[in-house]
Amino acid sequence: MQLHRLMGLLITSVSVSSILVAGCTQQRQFNEVEPTTQAQQPSPTVTEQPAPTVTQPSPARTPDVPYVPTPNEVVERMLQIANVSGDDRLYDLGSGDGRIVITAAQQFGTRGTGVDINPELVQRSRENAQQAGVSDRTEFLQQDLFETDLSDATVVTLYLLPNINLKLRPKLLQELKPGTRIVSHDFDMGEWEPEQVVQVQGPARQHTIYYWVVPENPPANLLQ
Ligand SMILES: C[S@@+](CC[C@H](N)C(=O)[O-])C[C@H]1O[C@@H](n2cnc3c(N)ncnc32)[C@H](O)[C@@H]1O
Repeated sequence: MQLHRLMGLLITSVSVSSILVAGCTQQRQFNEVEPTTQAQQPSPTVTEQPAPTVTQPSPARTPDVPYVPTPNEVVERMLQIANVSGDDRLYDLGSGDGRIVITAAQQFGTRGTGVDINPELVQRSRENAQQAGVSDRTEFLQQDLFETDLSDATVVTLYLLPNINLKLRPKLLQELKPGTRIVSHDFDMGEWEPEQVVQVQGPARQHTIYYWVVPENPPANLLQ
């Protein structure tokens, strides 16, 4: 059992390192955000499954962002800032253990979809949703977030990286209906000025939440 856990941790750190080698700035940002080892720690409100083992299926392709969970107090603040309700259709792009989608369903009755490229995290999210009693209002897709159909979204949540937010920006502005709200943990979207920037104290550091509303006619410079 201990050997399995150790192998799981080794594999996690090797894969996270290999992702972060691609961008030293990004590695520094996430390491400053939270130690990557926290990715495997249990969430206070979402029941976690055991640590991954070597027998778990691997992602379809290398993830663009390593798995680092948003602290629960930051999740709640993100959902408050987006003013989510039972009428919303929420997408968390890169959904990790499903906590944003599950918390929105539990606290606000929101219907939500979590999208993650890592099949093990998708499976864990489904189990967490079941345990939280919100399987009827939530779904979790193993998918590349760049291929997700967002046409029925009214709220989108993100905890990615600056360059991935920028790469995603044209898709968000072209696919989302005007009026759709977007909240991003810690990272902005370049020249797209947010309507709100809120600082939240987490358990280990201060977090920043950015909030945008999709305009009727996005300026051309934001579509690149
Ligand atoms: C920083 S974590 C955020 C998890 C969760 N949204 C939260 O805030 O707790 C980023 C997640 O994005 C996923 N991811 C990375 N690249 C992806 C891609 N191209 N498509 C879908 N998911 C991706 C990772 O597997 C990881 O779970």
